[in-house]
Amino acid sequence: MSTRVLVLNGPNLGRLGVREPEIYGSVTLDDLAELCRSTGRKLGLSVEVRQTDDERELIGWVHEAADARIPVVLNPAAFTHYSYALRDALAMRTAPLVEVHISNPAAREPFRHTSVVAAVADGTVAGFGLVSYQLALQAIAGLVAGDAAGPVGG
Ligand code: DQA
Repeated sequence: MSTRVLVLNGPNLGRLGVREPEIYGSVTLDDLAELCRSTGRKLGLSVEVRQTDDERELIGWVHEAADARIPVVLNPAAFTHYSYALRDALAMRTAPLVEVHISNPAAREPFRHTSVVAAVADGTVAGFGLVSYQLALQAIAGLVAGDAAGPVGG
């Protein structure tokens, strides 16, 4: 039986394809969701992709994942940089968590250099476009398999 994984996306990521394509590319959230599901299938993961612009809804999904011990790949979008409420929700997690970004926030405006989420995640993948999600799912597969340091060992 494949392991269920939630891929959660925060505000404005529903606008992928039209949103600043020079930064985020031209693929849509639907394309991203299909890529995540097919990547998951190859890794033995059953992937469900969700997106919301609403902090309350996102926190509700994080609680749901914690209650059901579901691993999460999370692109918190702008919440990354200031949502202590999201951070506190994530601190209650009961399964692997990988933070993901399409762009590389460290190479962008100074306000993007801080992640209030990073310290409660197993790790962060950023800067590789949609491949960031594939790498994050690979990391989740490694963590679920019990490889303490994830798929690369160490
Ligand atoms: C983002 C980076 C964030 O700084 C930004 O607010 C986003 C998207 C990314 O995937 O590159 O909305 O999380």
